[in-house]
Amino acid sequence: MKYDLKQFTLEEKLNLLTGKNFWQTDSANGKLPELFLSDGPHGVRKRANGETLAATAMPSLSALANSWDPELAYASGETIADECIALEADVLLAPGVNIKRTPLCGRNFEYFSEDPLLAGTLAKAYIEGVQSKGVGACLKHFAVNNRESRRTVQSSELDERTFREIYSPAFEIALQAEPWTVMCSYNLVNGVWASENEKLLRGVLRDEFGFNGLIVSDWRAVNHSARAVKASLDLRMPFDAHAYNELKQGLDEGWITEAEIDARVEKLLELVEKRVNAEKKRKSVYTKEQNHETAVRLARECVVLLKNEDGILPIRKGNVAVGSIFALTDLPGRGDFSIVPAIGGGGSALVRTDYKPRPLHQELAERYIGVSDAPNFQHSYFVFGEAYASDTVVLCVGLSEREGYDLDTIRLSREQEELILNTAKYNENVVVVVYAGSAVDMSAWIDKVKAVVFAGFLGEGAQEAVADILSGKANPCGKLNETFPLCIEDTPTGYTQGNGSVELYTEGVLVGYRWYDTKEKEVLFPFGHGLSYSEFEYSDLQIDKKSETDYEVSFTVKNVSNVDGKEISQLYVRDVLSTVERPQKELKGFAKTALKAGESKRVSISLNARSFAFYSPVLDKWYVENGAFEIYVGASSRDIRLAGKIEIALPQKEQYSHPFEL
Ligand code: GLC
Repeated sequence: MKYDLKQFTLEEKLNLLTGKNFWQTDSANGKLPELFLSDGPHGVRKRANGETLAATAMPSLSALANSWDPELAYASGETIADECIALEADVLLAPGVNIKRTPLCGRNFEYFSEDPLLAGTLAKAYIEGVQSKGVGACLKHFAVNNRESRRTVQSSELDERTFREIYSPAFEIALQAEPWTVMCSYNLVNGVWASENEKLLRGVLRDEFGFNGLIVSDWRAVNHSARAVKASLDLRMPFDAHAYNELKQGLDEGWITEAEIDARVEKLLELVEKRVNAEKKRKSVYTKEQNHETAVRLARECVVLLKNEDGILPIRKGNVAVGSIFALTDLPGRGDFSIVPAIGGGGSALVRTDYKPRPLHQELAERYIGVSDAPNFQHSYFVFGEAYASDTVVLCVGLSEREGYDLDTIRLSREQEELILNTAKYNENVVVVVYAGSAVDMSAWIDKVKAVVFAGFLGEGAQEAVADILSGKANPCGKLNETFPLCIEDTPTGYTQGNGSVELYTEGVLVGYRWYDTKEKEVLFPFGHGLSYSEFEYSDLQIDKKSETDYEVSFTVKNVSNVDGKEISQLYVRDVLSTVERPQKELKGFAKTALKAGESKRVSISLNARSFAFYSPVLDKWYVENGAFEIYVGASSRDIRLAGKIEIALPQKEQYSHPFEL
């Protein structure tokens, strides 16, 4: 199906460059089908007649990232797209790949990681899953949108190397999946709003990264339609009454030409063509029950076992009190996370699920039916006598997050911390389950409890997944996609929020583990950390040189326990001596391996020039500097199991003098 620009009057073309209403594109007086753009990353948030239609709540992207599993990211995207078809949405406004620069960002639950390789790899798979069903994806928010406070007026100010090495690579990687659309962010980037930032949208996104789909604005992120067209933004959402006149003014005053208008309209016509041509793929085939099972299956692999002293988990026997804070509110489950856990965050990513979770103590009891000497699970509102009388206590706590607001602390509420500390006074076997969208400062109580399970925001499958892990029905395999610092003051940005109009990215490329490892700071739990009921050993590191900058790194992972499990191995690279400041190590590959009890497997990860390069603003390109590089294979960024070294010696004519050689 091909549409021809000549079919449309100038007036129709101008109207096509803004939405028809809050969610739909314009039809040009019926000449085009209208497209419905719908949130969100954790399930369809289809708005109709003032209400949100019910859909399956999948794990949040931040929880999904703890699985380090592109297959699961694909499955999530595919499942949500299946429901998009059933609910008649044409483009899913997801995934977001903004980097987690500070754990205070209120939308971290919607983002994958502090590391661009992990974020981009999972986003690419997610987009492939969505678009496999003939539903368009929308990679967002381009770019450097790392905070919610004053997101529509504050400028993210950063140097070129930081932009290239930290804040744009996740987009670069995810674009390999050819998303139908990319959404520009609300904020300014180095003083120009993203929606009218020609260097960002045309220079980087289109010309350098090769994106040839449609650029849509974040909702109300456009300040002047003619300036947006100049920057090559295609679609202003939602409908804006000023758009037509601003474009007319632009044309009449020569800001923009009709050719520039046509180029933008072409992108909308191409998007409609993609949608029309995808009709045959758009078959909704899954039942609600199947989608719920998928939500549970994914959630299980997103759970991170952070601490398990004395092997207290999985729970084997005795009287077990299960509960949480009993909040005197009208929150679902009266605020008791063991009754109704936090399954997602607020704002545009909110999903209205009809699924009613069962209390955790009931889910747990069910997993021991038929087991002799099974534990006895009781729900408790923690009159401390019960804690005293129980063999084990499971406490469910957490933080809430919502779009538009940043957190003012990463600690649990005072009441929740007191609940943990007081319970631990009466019971030495406390297990804490944490529901949150980002890193939590647990330093006030972590030493008082024996086990900590980080659930994250797991979607509607949360209770079943957590019960599977606590009971041993499932073996935890998740690993952290972001560092958990000891306190907010240890993070690169602390409590700073910019001055309201500018936020300086003074930490440069030292974000997340790049910061803590380079500054040699202690952390609560490192990037890539996660325990298992299995135990894995690493051996036989081999580094095969294919060219001066291409290497095949292989190693053996063995499950030395008697429990089948999965291990996420991480490959880091360190530039031993460089003429610019580089992080102490950087993630350049990872692999997830299923291993039966006693089983060994050979794992292989490829490295190429980009694995060793830094971005040189002077040379305006990625540059591999000759010298030694260390290769680390780890179970986390701070649990390095194998290490090797290579020497890169590219032809001198391509190199620059190196002060350390002179
Ligand atoms: C919101 C969000 C964006 C969302 C859009 C539509 O403000 O920033 O992610 O897709 O508007 O709800």
